[in-house]
Amino acid sequence: MLKEIKPGIYWTGAVDWEIRKIHGEEYSTHRGTSYNSYLIKDTKTVLIDTVGSPFASEFVENLDKEVGLNAVDAVIANHAEADHGGALAELMARIPGRPIYCTASGVKLLRGNYHQDWNFVPVKAGDTLDLGRGKLVFIEAPMLHWPDSMLTYLTGANVLFSNDVFGQHLATGLLFNDLLDQAELYQEAIKYYANILTPFSRLVEKKVEELGKLGLPLDMICPSHGAIWRSDPLQIVTKYLDWARDWREDRITVVYDSMWGGTRAMAEAIASGIESADDRVTVKRFNIARSDKNDVVTEVFRSKALLVGSSTINNGLLSSVAGFLEEIRGLKFRGKKAAAFGAYGWSGEAVKLINEGLEKAGFELLNAGLRLPWNPDAKALAECFEFGKGIGVQGKTTS
Ligand code: FEO
Repeated sequence: MLKEIKPGIYWTGAVDWEIRKIHGEEYSTHRGTSYNSYLIKDTKTVLIDTVGSPFASEFVENLDKEVGLNAVDAVIANHAEADHGGALAELMARIPGRPIYCTASGVKLLRGNYHQDWNFVPVKAGDTLDLGRGKLVFIEAPMLHWPDSMLTYLTGANVLFSNDVFGQHLATGLLFNDLLDQAELYQEAIKYYANILTPFSRLVEKKVEELGKLGLPLDMICPSHGAIWRSDPLQIVTKYLDWARDWREDRITVVYDSMWGGTRAMAEAIASGIESADDRVTVKRFNIARSDKNDVVTEVFRSKALLVGSSTINNGLLSSVAGFLEEIRGLKFRGKKAAAFGAYGWSGEAVKLINEGLEKAGFELLNAGLRLPWNPDAKALAECFEFGKGIGVQGKTTS
């Protein structure tokens, strides 16, 4: 259904209330998501992005019913990923020959994804497309978060169609940020940044600064997922700048897995030690085998330090912890501290392996870690408590 969001500009996307994982099984979407497509009716009528493939038929039929597909003069493909280009095949089959404006990289990616030789019009940063009253200005944004990513700005209406940037995986029928539960909105926005944009923080910072220098008036930011930022749209831009600059709060996250409870007992004692040294720091504990990894990544993103624990198994790590270390390696966190711990039976390689994993992931080690044999007794737990206390004191003085 077409919903007018500003005179002559319509939301024509799809809301996916059922989805619980996106990017295969990589990203949890507890609150669903939306695929925001927009239609601008000016002298020319253009469509900005489409929707995910499960919604393709519904999307094309709706568009045909409400505006008539023949009225669509051009399509802007800000990004080729299947959640935005997923309806292109069905749409272009009905309007063959219509130009698709995208970056040069977008041409390659769209061809690679959909194997079609559509009428691509590659655009560069600063290129424009006259619509009549308004003009589209294309802003390349490579690696935010794919090589083809692009933002499109509409003059006159002062609207930025930002695609994935500034988005949130959040199903909503209300569309606008000011109408939503602010805690949910913020939670999904930071989770999105933490899990998708963290590796590209330097580029985010540069792009946001570049946008600032362009001095474009901004009435509304329309991302391709979740809420449209119409009330104080700069609030999310400011947040992105903060988050891109190695964000950390007064929080420490303890992540572990445990075979028979020894490493879990260590985690608890260490966390208590930290809390005894600093009664203001938030210390959260997660058994990573029982937690949603994207939620944990969000907690790590917000933390100044990360503690990782694992039992030793077969001279190595528990697979849940190994997987988590691989996850954070790819995210390239910066400016965060870390330490390792673990209970073991006879060989006890886990702490050394965690240290290696943490260093590979860009964390600065606070110490050599704590490894204890068998099930920790009262003396061993006291040692864990002191270990935590040391981290708490260090955190207090350096944060
Ligand atoms: Fe929402 Fe990169 O796709």
